[in-house]
Amino acid sequence: MSIKQILFLIVFINFVSFGRTDKFPDNFLFGVATSAYQIEGAWNQSGKGESMWDWFTHNFPERIQDTSNADIACDSYNRYEEDVSFLKDLNVSFYRFSISWPRIFPNGQNNRVNWEGVNYYIAVFKLLKEFNIEPVVTLYHWDLPQPLNNLGGWTNPLLVDYFANYVRFCYEQFGQYVKYWITLNEPQTTCINGYSSTEFAPGYNIKGLGFYYCAYVHLLAHARAYHIYKDEFYETQQGKVSIDLTMRWMEPLNKSDESHVLAAERTLQFTMGLYGHPLYLGDWPQIVKDNVDKRSELQGYARSRLPKFTSEQIDFIKGTNDYFALNYYTSNLVYPTHDITEDLNETSYGKDMGVSLSIDSSWPSSTSSWLYNVPYGLRSMINWVAEQYDNPEIFILENGFADLHTLDDYDRINYLNGHLCHTLRAINEDKRTVIGYALWSLMDNFEWSDGYEQSFGIIAVDFSSVNLTRTVRASYEWYKNLIESRTIDCEDFE
Ligand SMILES: *[C@@H]1O[C@H](CO)[C@@H](O)[C@H](O)[C@H]1NC(C)=O
Ligand SMILES: *[C@@H]1O[C@H](CO)[C@@H](O)[C@H](O)[C@H]1NC(C)=O
Ligand SMILES: *[C@@H]1O[C@H](CO)[C@@H](O)[C@H](O)[C@H]1NC(C)=O
Ligand SMILES: *[C@@H]1O[C@H](CO)[C@@H](O)[C@H](O)[C@H]1NC(C)=O
Ligand SMILES: *[C@@H]1O[C@H](CO)[C@@H](O)[C@H](O)[C@H]1NC(C)=O
Repeated sequence: MSIKQILFLIVFINFVSFGRTDKFPDNFLFGVATSAYQIEGAWNQSGKGESMWDWFTHNFPERIQDTSNADIACDSYNRYEEDVSFLKDLNVSFYRFSISWPRIFPNGQNNRVNWEGVNYYIAVFKLLKEFNIEPVVTLYHWDLPQPLNNLGGWTNPLLVDYFANYVRFCYEQFGQYVKYWITLNEPQTTCINGYSSTEFAPGYNIKGLGFYYCAYVHLLAHARAYHIYKDEFYETQQGKVSIDLTMRWMEPLNKSDESHVLAAERTLQFTMGLYGHPLYLGDWPQIVKDNVDKRSELQGYARSRLPKFTSEQIDFIKGTNDYFALNYYTSNLVYPTHDITEDLNETSYGKDMGVSLSIDSSWPSSTSSWLYNVPYGLRSMINWVAEQYDNPEIFILENGFADLHTLDDYDRINYLNGHLCHTLRAINEDKRTVIGYALWSLMDNFEWSDGYEQSFGIIAVDFSSVNLTRTVRASYEWYKNLIESRTIDCEDFE
């Protein structure tokens, strides 16, 4: 017997003898996710313009683990029919993917439309519709047109206007196919890794400033995109619009120490709260204003490093999330390190929070340095979001595990199983509204600064083969089974 068969037998015996399975609600949506830059390839094909990730990987290959880029990636631009055939085989309810802005507007602006790019997405929409697969569409997943990056990208408030023109065009062209829109993907990640470090495009390490300006422009751009949809398209298209927010769960290092509990809460407000608070409650979280304003003043800045919203902007942003698009991968332990009036010579959002992060040595690791398997963190995160923002409808739109290209990926299955069990508990025991789950990712792809070294796919892609051969992993069969049975064994995931 192969390892696969033995494991199947163990799962089967477990199922028969204990019979402890949990069932997902009938209307719970199962899907998978990808993004344009990570899978499409065809970076300079059929009229596409340069994105800031094209520019970044071509100019700073040393910042990518394996010095690779996504010029070809999975070549999904040319192989989308094969990729959709896997979606059909999995029988997912939905497919989350993104539209490449520079494939639609090569220079970022609407004075030049690349109709070949538009037609590519229409072909994908039509094929999905044929198989009854709901598209969940991200309008922006980090591939900013490079000419707009040259103008300052996400630190330039004028970007809001350019984004507005782009999203209006997408609603016009694709809106008839789409019920779930995502304006922007994970601004936290871009703003930290791209504007406060050199790790991600554009690699502008503007410590203590870039992080907040980037968040500010993202929030204004999202709100504008939301209002355009509501004012001009909702009546005929009846879709929902959200911004996709990612979070690590923050656990106090010492739960019986009040200062640790406060440090964890403060970190949640500086990360998820930076977006959730303006969207649901209005304006930045108070603790963020207090800390950054205070430190900026003590550091002698003429104005706070945290940009201020006008009262019109506060009202404009508040209430612009039809559902809560949540990404969750992992957790951290948090402890306080200093009073915010100390270490004034250092300007960084980390110093503004006054905390340090670590991990629990009992958490199982993945091959990716930041990703530990902490399933209960997802349940905690769902509950935190529900409590802070008055029980929004939550749609988990990314969750997944990294390994080094193994086909018998039982660590991934274990990770997914645990996270889905904790999602079910949030629904059944905590009575939270979680409407669906997107597994990241359908297939191996370009994992940003990790290049192709880390694989997240339930389908393996052989990047050295001529045809970029796709091979399903054990986790693919596991997920397909789950989608069909809608039941899961949660015995081992208390
Ligand atoms: C597209 O980029 C590739 C490198 O990835 C290059 O070899 C090719 O000449 C380019 N094609 C066009 C049309 O610029
Ligand atoms: C796919 O899922 C739908 C809806 O959940 C179900 O009705 C259908 O029978 C499934 N198809 C297959 C081939 O399993
Ligand atoms: C945790 O905090 C409590 C309260 O401050 C303290 O009594 C205890 O010693 C701390 N535990 C550890 C392991 O540091
Ligand atoms: C700030 O000052 C501390 C203490 O004098 C020193 O250890 C640290 O390296 C300084 N940091 C920077 C960024 O200058
Ligand atoms: C690649 O795919 C093409 C078209 O399906 C096929 O003709 C060719 O034999 C394949 N090449 C390899 C090396 O598998």
